[in-house]
Amino acid sequence: MGQNSLESFSHSVIQRVDAHLKKLLDPEEGCQAERLFQAMSYATLNGGKRIRPLLCFASAHVFDEFALENDAILNSACALEMIHAYSLIHDDLPAMDDDDLRRGNPSVHKQFDEATAILAGDALQTLAFETLTHAKNIQPPQKLTLVRLLAEGAGASGMAGGQMIDLQAVGEKPDLDALMQMHSMKTGALICASVLMGASAAGCEDKNQLATLKTYAENIGLAFQIQDDILDCIADTNTLGKQQGADAIRDKPSYVSILGIDGAKGKLHEAHSQAIDALGGFTNCSFLTQLADFIVERTH
Ligand code: IPE
Ligand code: IPE
Ligand code: MG
Ligand code: MG
Ligand code: MG
Repeated sequence: MGQNSLESFSHSVIQRVDAHLKKLLDPEEGCQAERLFQAMSYATLNGGKRIRPLLCFASAHVFDEFALENDAILNSACALEMIHAYSLIHDDLPAMDDDDLRRGNPSVHKQFDEATAILAGDALQTLAFETLTHAKNIQPPQKLTLVRLLAEGAGASGMAGGQMIDLQAVGEKPDLDALMQMHSMKTGALICASVLMGASAAGCEDKNQLATLKTYAENIGLAFQIQDDILDCIADTNTLGKQQGADAIRDKPSYVSILGIDGAKGKLHEAHSQAIDALGGFTNCSFLTQLADFIVERTH
């Protein structure tokens, strides 16, 4: 396997991230809230694709060839995955998408109960920010940058705001601009944070380089949710590990419902090309390029 193989890089990233997450989610001796830790672990250590940690490390790798050994990058990657896991727990709740299946297993509120699912999401979110404070090899100002990037990605102008728009749009037929805005916020913002946190944790402070990475990230973030919409329509429940056809059942506006499958695929490839074009000025970005390819080719 070559030095630039995404497969071997991914393997190393996932191994490190999973081991570190396991450590972070281990309750202290005598902990009174063991059930909460169980639910947090159930939601986090159950075989997600780890796209956000991979993007974080791939972006960091542009600036630091030893990214895999960097503690700030590892903690950033784990913090991102915790926010993502929390977003999925809440996304599946009856008050939101009401989905019983996630990653091939019962959703957290089915395996535990709704109150535990809400609390597990809350606690994963706070643990994510706490985790950023643990990073050993960076100074407080850089830590604050990471905190800000994660908060922007997760909050009202990012993921949480996008989820609000998503829920308000049930049964509506938004135009393409509104749909793109919703996707950019609910999914793109955390993907953007993944790329920018990786670069920042690796020491990049160059505004132009960060702006270029942002353009790449905005486009793959959009592509990621478009492919999620396409898969919801054409894949099967077993492969997806979540209920196929859930968007149509709940009358959720999606790229497929607005543009049809071929139109959605067209937009997917447009966003992919724009992401690749944005990377033009970088050397050492082959993992980012390969991840962009993976995002549009993925089958689950
Ligand atoms: C699913 O995200 C939810 C979206 C933002 C579209 P992923 O497809 O990354 O889910 P996992 O982590 O691999 O299960
Ligand atoms: C979820 O979008 C986005 C977030 C969790 C922020 P979806 O509702 O389409 O994700 P899935 O399809 O349930 O994974
Ligand atoms: Mg949803
Ligand atoms: Mg959902
Ligand atoms: Mg979906």
